[in-house]
Parts: sequence; structure tokens; C-alpha cells
Amino acid sequence: MKISIIYHSESGNTEKVAQFIAKGMINAGDVNVKCMSIDSIDLDYAKESSAFIFGSPTYMASMSWQMKKFIDTESKKLNMEGKMCGVFATANYFGGGAEIAELSMIGQLLVRGVLIYSAGASKGAPYTHVGTVAIKDGNEFEQERAELFGKRFAEKALELF
Ligand SMILES: Cc1cc2nc3c(=O)[nH]c(=O)nc-3n(C[C@H](O)[C@H](O)[C@H](O)COP(=O)(O)O)c2cc1C
Repeated sequence: MKISIIYHSESGNTEKVAQFIAKGMINAGDVNVKCMSIDSIDLDYAKESSAFIFGSPTYMASMSWQMKKFIDTESKKLNMEGKMCGVFATANYFGGGAEIAELSMIGQLLVRGVLIYSAGASKGAPYTHVGTVAIKDGNEFEQERAELFGKRFAEKALELF
């Protein structure tokens, strides 16, 4: 099963967290994962994916304008209807709006007809709530949580698809 992790990253933090999530997904079993910047999407791979993760830096307590533009104008090409989606965000500050960034992506993605999933608090600690979050590229705890988020997400995708 293919999973696409699609991120926007200017200074590398969100890209690095995407890679932690991908590492966790591979631990879930028979999964192929590709991390792709919004600037270099492998459209064929993405269209064949059963599940997607979107990651954005927090800009002004919301998703970045680049990610919003991507979802507005490009995401229709990914054929995501009925597929599984999750989100993550990075930020500089605790309380800086990362969860608002996540929720703003979720709102947009729902318009594309996706099924949103985060294991949240259902699998015990560490919780991922609406999606995993990291300050910059994450401390040790946040990096391990990002991996676990990936593993739990991929396990659910394998169960459903
Ligand atoms: C224009 C701009 C606005 C930002 N606004 C916020 C913010 O509201 N809250 C916050 O915690 N961090 C904010 N940041 C910091 C970024 O979210 C943070 O450094 C992020 O990890 C950058 O990701 P990247 O390295 O993948 O580009 C902002 C950064 C930029 C460039």
C-alpha cells in the first residue's frame, strides 16, 4: 500500500518531521511511503496512494499560505476522495497556533472528501490529538511521537485499505 506525505517546508523543520513520520510508517508493515514537498509532487505515486499526510509550518497561527494555496489549487489532482488523511504541523512556540494550523488543513481536506484520522488519545500515551506537533524539528519526545503517529496512521490505513 502506498502512502504520500506531502509537506511545505522553507527551513527544513517540517521536512524533517515528515521523515520521522515516514520512519514510523515503515515499521507498521507492508507500506511504501514517499515524502514529497509541495514543490515536487510525484503525481503518479500520489494518485496511487491510499492515504495521505499533510504537514505545514505554522504561519501566523494557521497553516502556511503556501500549503493553503497547494490544497486550494493542486490537491484536486491527487484523487483523494474516500481516502485517508492525517495532518501535522511544526511551530516555533508552544501555544503558537500549531493545532489551528492542523485544524485549518483538516477543514480544507474534508472539502476534498477525505476520511480524517489521527489516533488521538485512543491508543494511549503519547497522545497525538488532532495530529502530531513539533516545536521546530522536535525534541526527542516529539520526534518519537511523530514516528508513533506514522506507525498508528499506517496501521489504520492497512486495516481499512
Ligand atoms: C511567516 C512566518 C510566520 C510564522 N508564524 C508562526 C506562528 O504564528 N507561531 C509559531 O509558533 N511559529 C511561527 N513561525 C515559525 C515556523 O512555524 C517554524 O519555524 C516552522 O517550524 C518552520 O518550518 P520549516 O522549517 O519547515 O519551514 C512562523 C514562521 C514564518 C516564516
